[in-house]
Amino acid sequence: MHQRILILDYGSQVTQLIARRVREAGVYCELHPGDVTDEFLRGQLAQGLKGVILSGSHASAYEEDSLKVPPAVFDLGVPVLGICYGMQAMAQQLGGEVSNADHREFGYAEVRARGHTKLLNGIEDFSTPEGHGMLKVWMSHGDQVTRLPDGFKVMASTDSCPIAGMADEARGFYAVQFHPEVTHTVQGQALLNRFVLEICGCVGDWNMPNYVEEAVARIREQVGDDEVILGLSGGVDSSVAAALIHKAIGDRLTCVFVDHGLLRLDEGKQVMKTFAENMGVKIIHVDASSQFMGKLSGVTDPEAKRKIIGKEFVEVFQSESGKLKQAKWLAQGTIYPDVIESAGAKTGKAVAIKSHHNVGGLPDTLNLKLLEPLRELFKDEVRKLGVALGLPHGMVYRHPFPGPGLGVRILGEVKTEYADLLRRADAIFIEELHNHIDKASNLSWYDLTSQAFAVFLPVKSVGVMGDGRTYDYVVALRAVQTTDFMTADWAPLPYPLLAKVSSRIINEVRGINRVVYDVSSKPPATIEWE
Ligand code: XMP
Repeated sequence: MHQRILILDYGSQVTQLIARRVREAGVYCELHPGDVTDEFLRGQLAQGLKGVILSGSHASAYEEDSLKVPPAVFDLGVPVLGICYGMQAMAQQLGGEVSNADHREFGYAEVRARGHTKLLNGIEDFSTPEGHGMLKVWMSHGDQVTRLPDGFKVMASTDSCPIAGMADEARGFYAVQFHPEVTHTVQGQALLNRFVLEICGCVGDWNMPNYVEEAVARIREQVGDDEVILGLSGGVDSSVAAALIHKAIGDRLTCVFVDHGLLRLDEGKQVMKTFAENMGVKIIHVDASSQFMGKLSGVTDPEAKRKIIGKEFVEVFQSESGKLKQAKWLAQGTIYPDVIESAGAKTGKAVAIKSHHNVGGLPDTLNLKLLEPLRELFKDEVRKLGVALGLPHGMVYRHPFPGPGLGVRILGEVKTEYADLLRRADAIFIEELHNHIDKASNLSWYDLTSQAFAVFLPVKSVGVMGDGRTYDYVVALRAVQTTDFMTADWAPLPYPLLAKVSSRIINEVRGINRVVYDVSSKPPATIEWE
């Protein structure tokens, strides 16, 4: 059993970042809704609970209907860290006062550390001529604590927010008005490390290479002598799940790899090479491309295309898995953000912009038990686990690829001819992103972008090549930088890189005579074009 930190979520956009930072400190943590019961909290003590973090929120702590911190948090006997709303709720509930501030603070701020608390002692970005330690932080609040609860002292302040941090060190209660979890708070990781490792006393027993053995043992215990099926897509999550389960139960795992004909260049071959040839994983490779193309013929509406691809995928998978009579389990590469999001989706607040399809969306009618060995991991942990399991670096650090594949990158009707042209153009773009190294960071532009791909536009434009006129298709290049894929900026790719990609595509891919670069951010555009 791992020591754990519990993060109670009051609805801030950045709560997940707290969890990622705690994990980066080498400490296991779980994120739960802010209104869990006292009973649940007390039960956590037997699960190795070492501390609690209260997240931010849009709400005001002094409003009647705002979410309250469960009272047990303050008598569990473990340290508590309140962040933003978490600080205000702590103050309000322990007898202090919170008011609407005269000066709202959003964005960069400089905070002066005070009172030599264990949390901030020795952590600073610079010091003033008078010798005060200063922190560069990110603030986002309209309310602030205006009176300390009994037993607390001021831990940090700014000119407009005299109580920007508070502490009751005897009880191990700390709170900050700013957000240590965002990278704009320069010492944020140092502060969270200090809290979980020194104040909560966690030993830092959470890391991916060690997790392999633990996860293998758990899968063996869960599955016993049964057989397992897994839908392999070539993406990071299903690949790492396959490698992990294969390590645990060997050839009692069968993977079903459905090639819908909308994969990237040579992707099918690569998946077979890595898993079947190199690792000896049993794979059923279903080439269903003509079936998918048939169903997509004549369909131009993006949502209709997505639905067809999703439905067809499930049918093909179901008929293949139905042949594996021995299998009792269906393995999926569900990861922790999916778990958190589907819990959040139950509140009905999410708005569907696009219907998402992925291998995880298989129906209950398969009558199989679910095996989800990555359920507690974040994406960066899944990648580290993949490396620890020996998967190729390039596969594990690949940009994400949508379930409907090139189907949402060929605008309008999907045709094999278009898919073939797009695959070749896309491969050239990706190759050049790898080839171009940014001197300042020494990273390739592939690593400097979060997702990059080519989009096929089924319009023709006039060009000239040699002595002749051409009348061919257009390809758009898309490259974005993002941390959460909810918002994204178009990537400022260097002109020489764009020039090289454009000239290679036009010269090497006959049928394309024009390349354009997409300079739209999300929002208002989305990352994919459909
Ligand atoms: P959008 O286009 O909504 O994309 O800005 C955000 C991220 O989601 C990916 N995406 C999908 N992934 N199934 C998936 O597994 C889908 O149907 C799907 N649609 C979009 C997209 O590639 C980007 O990373």
